[in-house]
Amino acid sequence: MAVTLEKDGSIAVVTVDSPPVNALSRDLRQELIDAAEAADADPDIEAVVLMGAGRAFIAGADVSEFDRLPEPPHLPDVVARIETAKKPWIAAIHGAALGGGMEVALGCRFRIAAPGTRLGFPEVALGVVPGAGGTVRTPRLVGFDKAVALVTGGKPVGEEEAKAIGLIDAIAEGDLRQAALSFARAALGKPMPSPLAARDVAAPHEGFWVEAETRLAKRGEGAARLRALACLKRAAEADFAAAMAHERATFLELRASDEAAALRHVFFAERAASRPPELKGIEPRPIRSAGVVGGGTMGAGIALALRRTGLPVVLLERDEAAAARGLDNFRDLVGGMVKRALVSEPEADELLAGLSVTTEIRALGDADLVIEAVFEEIGVKRDVFARLDGVCRPDAILATNTSYLDPRRIVAGLGDPERYVGLHFFSPAHVMKLLEIVPLPETAPEVLATAFALAARLGKVPVKAGICEGFIGNRILKRYRAAAEDLLRQGAAIADIDAAMRGFGFRMGPFEAQDMGGLDIAYLQREGARAAGEPVLETLADILVRVGRKGRKTGAGWYDYAESAAAPTPSSEVGELLAAHVGGGPSLSGEAIAARLVSEMAEEGAAILAEGIAVAAKDIDLVEIHGYGFPRWRGGPMFHASRRGAKRFADDLGRPPSPALAAFLSAG
Ligand code: NAI
Repeated sequence: MAVTLEKDGSIAVVTVDSPPVNALSRDLRQELIDAAEAADADPDIEAVVLMGAGRAFIAGADVSEFDRLPEPPHLPDVVARIETAKKPWIAAIHGAALGGGMEVALGCRFRIAAPGTRLGFPEVALGVVPGAGGTVRTPRLVGFDKAVALVTGGKPVGEEEAKAIGLIDAIAEGDLRQAALSFARAALGKPMPSPLAARDVAAPHEGFWVEAETRLAKRGEGAARLRALACLKRAAEADFAAAMAHERATFLELRASDEAAALRHVFFAERAASRPPELKGIEPRPIRSAGVVGGGTMGAGIALALRRTGLPVVLLERDEAAAARGLDNFRDLVGGMVKRALVSEPEADELLAGLSVTTEIRALGDADLVIEAVFEEIGVKRDVFARLDGVCRPDAILATNTSYLDPRRIVAGLGDPERYVGLHFFSPAHVMKLLEIVPLPETAPEVLATAFALAARLGKVPVKAGICEGFIGNRILKRYRAAAEDLLRQGAAIADIDAAMRGFGFRMGPFEAQDMGGLDIAYLQREGARAAGEPVLETLADILVRVGRKGRKTGAGWYDYAESAAAPTPSSEVGELLAAHVGGGPSLSGEAIAARLVSEMAEEGAAILAEGIAVAAKDIDLVEIHGYGFPRWRGGPMFHASRRGAKRFADDLGRPPSPALAAFLSAG
């Protein structure tokens, strides 16, 4: 039995005990109804305290049931059964009451929570809306303003905020069970509040719904948030039963939608990413201190990411002037976080206090981990690693943040090849969630396990990548940009291509994004390869860089910028520069443009998969979502491709899929 009932005087304590997080499985739902029947039938019981055993009250729905049809008893009936019980129920919450767990708590007459509890409705993050009264009871408890924020925002709140907005009645100090029992006894002596289903709710102010809808439409994160808003609106306009029926119908419809399937796919991919099966049972090495070499864009960001986990960090630069710049870079990043209220002033001081900047490589002698982020030049990197090899402890892990270079070449000939690994961060490194982990053939399993443990500690999504130029993400990026240039050559307008990708759900199109990051980085990389005698095709971007159009920072790139913060304006100079290269092909709709470019990403992804550079298609999806702005609610390029299938894919691409992609599509 997952649900037990015991009596403490006239109060029943109903405990849900279904590890790990008391998810609302079918059995558990039935047992909750049984407990309500039993409590109602027992004349000695005056009130019921509902608690969760273990880590949480009730963390939410049972994710393993997501892909099956819902089985009775359905959650709305469970919540209604608790709400209409003859005795008042008190939810005594710890850990988490999320989604269905929160809805069960709303069926109770009172809610008290222990410190450290998270409460709320993350449903929209999985592409659905609450399905058991969350959108109907919440406004009756906290009003529409707060309910809209909770339900459409999807972000849980802590107990303090929950208390402040009226989502819970009290915060339990000390033992939760005792606090709940005392609360129940005190409540019994007072007039009982009516159940939420029976309460009226004040309509929001004029224009409220239009404002909320505009705000959400601007976020552009798929349909679920807007549908949740529509459910809340219905709760304002219809009676309780009608609003409940509307919410349930919306929930069931969205549950079967592409968007929900995509978000579930990403959810499971993220969970799997942090624990690769081949590392099971392998102990990571402890990391107590870290070094970073190079205090530029990436080094400063990596140092900050490490500092935020509390690790002391030594930042090595090549000379005093560069060291001073490195410290400034770090300070600027911290200052930016203070400005955005992400850290407080004292926290900022703390972050700075734990960083020491040096030009002495010996200062890295004690570090457990050193991450190199110097110029992307093989000679410079080889020299850094040779010197690190000389001063670092033999058990220290040495990592490179290279974007394109082969890590094997960087450390060739150095001692103990087992201790090297690629750790490819994304800019800004203290913000972006992706971490590509690139093992060398000799990398020790425990070094790899440490890299994954570090990713978890940094709050990153780790993806293992094999060695090739650009690893997973930059290799797909190259293909994506080339495909965008192809469309341009065929006559599509720069602004139309960007708009099409925004329409698909990216924050920026490929050309805007290049202008933001700077066109010169990839240009220099191509020039380097050309100088080394590699065959590198001339790109349209090369033409722009050669006349100094390097992006926003030069006021000109694919677009003109009156100033760096100004909106991109189509450029007549670019029109002239490229006139000889672009043709008048058939004009394409935004959808066709997006379909083509996303298909090209999937094409490259399939090649990456076939070559074993990525372990699984879902890893490629994670790379694109967490490193390159692919809309999460589309599930990533591989998921998207598998949903579209081979036939539509051929239409999107304008040619049959490659053998690698065809194999991937038929396997899916
Ligand atoms: P950056 O030019 O901003 O910074 C490089 C820093 O390394 C400079 O501060 C320089 O003084 C320092 N440095 C050079 N030689 C050194 C030496 N021998 N010892 C100590 N410090 C030295 O470059 P950025 O953008 O930070 O890139 C660094 C590395 O990260 C490159 O390998 C790059 O490919 C990679 N990367 C860059 C990304 C980006 O978006 N900028 C993203 C992911 C990786």
